[in-house]
Amino acid sequence: MRISIFGLGYVGCVSLGCLAKNGHQVIGVDVNATKVDQINSGKATIIEKDIAEIIAEQHKLNRISATTSFNEAILNSEISIVAVGTPSSKNGHLNLQYIFNVAEQIGVALLEKESFHIIVIRSTIMPGTCDEFASIVEEISGKERNKHFAIVDNPEFLREGTAVHDYFNPPLTLIGSDNKEAADKVSILYQNLPAEIIVTNLKVAEIMKYVNNTFHALKISFGNEIGNICTELNIDSHEVMNIFCKDKQLNISPYYFKPGFAYGGSCLPKDLKGLQTLAHDLYLDTPIINSIGKTNDLQIDRAVNLILQHWNKKLGFLGLSFKAGTDDLRNSPAVTVIERLIGKGCDISIYDKNINLSLLTGTNKEFIDQKIPHLSSLLVNSTEEIIEKCDVIIVNNKENEFTEILNNVNNKIIIDMVRLGENFLGKQNYTGINWAIDFSEAYDKQMPKHRISSRVKSPVILTNTPR
Ligand SMILES: NC(=O)c1ccc[n+]([C@@H]2O[C@H](COP(=O)([O-])OP(=O)(O)OC[C@H]3O[C@@H](n4cnc5c(N)ncnc54)[C@H](O)[C@@H]3O)[C@@H](O)[C@H]2O)c1
Repeated sequence: MRISIFGLGYVGCVSLGCLAKNGHQVIGVDVNATKVDQINSGKATIIEKDIAEIIAEQHKLNRISATTSFNEAILNSEISIVAVGTPSSKNGHLNLQYIFNVAEQIGVALLEKESFHIIVIRSTIMPGTCDEFASIVEEISGKERNKHFAIVDNPEFLREGTAVHDYFNPPLTLIGSDNKEAADKVSILYQNLPAEIIVTNLKVAEIMKYVNNTFHALKISFGNEIGNICTELNIDSHEVMNIFCKDKQLNISPYYFKPGFAYGGSCLPKDLKGLQTLAHDLYLDTPIINSIGKTNDLQIDRAVNLILQHWNKKLGFLGLSFKAGTDDLRNSPAVTVIERLIGKGCDISIYDKNINLSLLTGTNKEFIDQKIPHLSSLLVNSTEEIIEKCDVIIVNNKENEFTEILNNVNNKIIIDMVRLGENFLGKQNYTGINWAIDFSEAYDKQMPKHRISSRVKSPVILTNTPR
């Protein structure tokens, strides 16, 4: 394929060399004439293992070239990859000016182009940026999105130092688009890489890099807090974390990574507090460990606020224990939610097939006697009874029975804490605690509108001057 790449920095230079190595004809564009000259003399613009050899080899094969003219690049390619910088601004927001400058340039170039053009954003961008980018292109070119051009988000996962290796061995290839033809064509660029190609919508693709990198930062910092505690106790932190990583069922696994309700039970809150207190007693500051409980409390607040939107209706809880298949009520977040709703005067009924008050003993019984002493008067005997009696059904446990019965309930409000199933997502009467059904409108309100700079209205001044 004939590909143009906007931005010849780390990501752009690696993509240029690697795409050419895979047989494509690639033209780089940069506002920096020195980088353009480097590519045109067969030299890499960055220091990175293997890239100098790849650029020299592909230059010899006449598969790569570079220019400062965005028009030339667009007119000579069918796909443009955007790899310009997206630095942080002073107040922590992303500075998207370079991205939107490219949108303006592409808009101008498309004025002269007849054939369909695909724009692929490789830079790290916030959700909503592709839509904004496409609007700018539409406004300037007078062309229509998905008729004359399409936009795709394809975040880059490489790490500096191992960039070429990472390009050829990505953990996965992510393609976000609202245009199937464009997504299919971009997939072809990566079909020979040994990684799954995942096609999703634009906003999912756009947020992924932030989710990944924030988690990577969390992993490092969590490991360091554990390391600091272990060091104070004369324990080898590396042995601890090596063993930690061997648990592929609960630790290094998809388990627990599901947005939903707060955690609870007899172990997580108690043991978290234990480690927190240990760190405190060792005079160690462990802000990540200390903030976990706070995040959990906020999730309980979120549930209470969501349910209180229906404070004057009959509320029915399906599940009371902290997870399905147990009668353990100790530190069940649902108990805390119900306790707070009772305090607000709400009318509540509860069904949990595992809860038999006469069988509760010990600390479990003490806990519930303290929190909801009149629990027996709130309990009903079946899911059907809850549905019959109540206007709002709050699902706390992922019992198959709940999913099956609620599938056919359309005349009651369902508040889901456990993600009952994908088939609930489009229902009018359904709300999930923290997954959106239609995110677009909510986001559009927050997204500051990019203003097209006045200079772009006069394309004559829009030259590729080095910055
Ligand atoms: N560097 C990494 O390891 C890495 C990894 C993954 C993702 N990313 C993301 O990729 C993007 C690019 O990062 P980078 O490190 O390659 O940036 P970089 O600063 O090294 O390169 C950006 C290049 O874009 C050029 N440029 C700016 N405006 C331009 C325009 N209008 N037209 C053409 N070229 C223009 C600049 O002159 C520069 O050469 C960022 O969003 C970054 O967050 C970077």
